[in-house]
Amino acid sequence: MEDSPSRQDHVAHPLGIDFGGSGIKGAPVDLGTGTFAADRVRIPTPEHSTPQAVAEVVRELLAAFPEHTGTPVGITVPGVVRHGVVQSAANIDEAWIGTDADTLFTRTLGRDVHVVNDADAAGIAEVRWGAALGVRGLVVVTTLGTGIGSALIMDGRLVPNSELGHLEIDGHDAESRAAASAREREGLSWQEWAERLTRYYSTVEMLFSPDLFVVGGGVSKKAEKFLPLIDVRTPLVPATLLNTAGIVGAAACADDEARGRSDAVG
Ligand code: BGC
Repeated sequence: MEDSPSRQDHVAHPLGIDFGGSGIKGAPVDLGTGTFAADRVRIPTPEHSTPQAVAEVVRELLAAFPEHTGTPVGITVPGVVRHGVVQSAANIDEAWIGTDADTLFTRTLGRDVHVVNDADAAGIAEVRWGAALGVRGLVVVTTLGTGIGSALIMDGRLVPNSELGHLEIDGHDAESRAAASAREREGLSWQEWAERLTRYYSTVEMLFSPDLFVVGGGVSKKAEKFLPLIDVRTPLVPATLLNTAGIVGAAACADDEARGRSDAVG
């Protein structure tokens, strides 16, 4: 059978996988444009989300993209990742702590896998293709979800594992008061939540004097409801990649790592 023109033009792209509390999602990513090269596939996160259980789901996900083999795979984890080893697990199974996830996934999947913190991946995507494209100086990308994730990016280069969601503010772990999950759990109005976010972002502003805040996470789809109510001096803009940022950033980090680029992370 003759190949169709689109098959002949086919390019195998790196894959990005986003491991979240409710779903594990993946897609091949066109790094020329920072967009998905095929429709995203989502599989629910196993109830007991141990590293091995997640690796099995990722294997299933990769099988959905047979045309994209041999390329690097980037996987986000909502925890600190140093040299491939997961070192914290605020909102995931504790079995992750101390797991050499790069090695586990590479062995289980028989592919070159690179694991990266979820907010760092989203930050890289926003700086290369999204709301912080071309911004010089210090950009702080935050993700508001179950927790608060952060990425510190200076002149386009990431300082990994910043974990600014765990700043202690007024005697509390900041994310326990200001994450999107706190708004839902406590039934806060947008105004009440924005007051907590003002306290949060002004603390980060005082400590880092950033040039720009980018606010991501699922709730940034509703940015008009709370962003204008946050009172800080630093410009604050919604993320633009929204639910594609983790996947796109993970693929970009894995590609950087495979090429031995100096701004590769983790
Ligand atoms: C974790 C971070 C993660 C963030 C968002 C925090 O609780 O400590 O590593 O980036 O949640 O998922």
